[in-house]
Amino acid sequence: TTISPLIAGNWKMNGLRGSLDELTALAGMLTTGEAPRALVVICPPATILSEVVHQGATAGILAGGQDCHTESHGAHTGDISAGMLADAGAQYVIVGHSERRADHGETDAQVCAKAEAAIGAGLKPIICVGETESQRDSGDAENVVAAQLAGSIPEAASQHEVIIAYEPIWAIGTGRTPTIEDISSMHAAIREKLTARFAEKGPSIRILYGGSLKPQNAREILAVENVNGGLVGGASLLAKDFYTIISAV
Ligand code: G3H
Repeated sequence: TTISPLIAGNWKMNGLRGSLDELTALAGMLTTGEAPRALVVICPPATILSEVVHQGATAGILAGGQDCHTESHGAHTGDISAGMLADAGAQYVIVGHSERRADHGETDAQVCAKAEAAIGAGLKPIICVGETESQRDSGDAENVVAAQLAGSIPEAASQHEVIIAYEPIWAIGTGRTPTIEDISSMHAAIREKLTARFAEKGPSIRILYGGSLKPQNAREILAVENVNGGLVGGASLLAKDFYTIISAV
């Protein structure tokens, strides 16, 4: 199975209307340069999501949310539903990012329900998993990730598109990355789990790598087998850097 690569930029809680200049710059690079091999997705703060949808469209840039609620509507002050993201033009949504698991105590079961809600609203969930540094040091990384996969991916993934993002927590925003061998063996382990659970669908599920993906390391990391793209934080904020990463696949 050949899977087309996908590069997603997660702007996290960064981005005011002025940041749309970077989007304009990226759109310019994508339309004047050679057409990228990768699908390009930007997940901005919800306040500028519809601008990203509209301004990105001409350059083929797709948009995603950074989180969604498990329910479609109701008395949940401050939350956004998957349907609302879809209504604003999003096609993707990140669920279970480690920052949400940590800051908001999200459990695998909640992440699973969010992914299900996303699918129900016609979005493609980007389901995040990844171990802490101490879990890696004690040799538990693969077991931790296996448990997160088992608990966070809804059964509906057998019929609908989902994307997995492997992000070792200790590599996020730190400038440190696992070795190529470690990335390769974790992604192979994830592929094995997906294929064991989803049979013929397993080999077609994208597995993104995230955590200090930069212009300098993108080519090497994105070439690893079973790495089907990347989830980029810091380096997605600058058009030039993000474009370099997009062009590395
Ligand atoms: O969602 C993105 C990741 O958390 C990676 O962030 O590229 O700033 O390390 P980073």
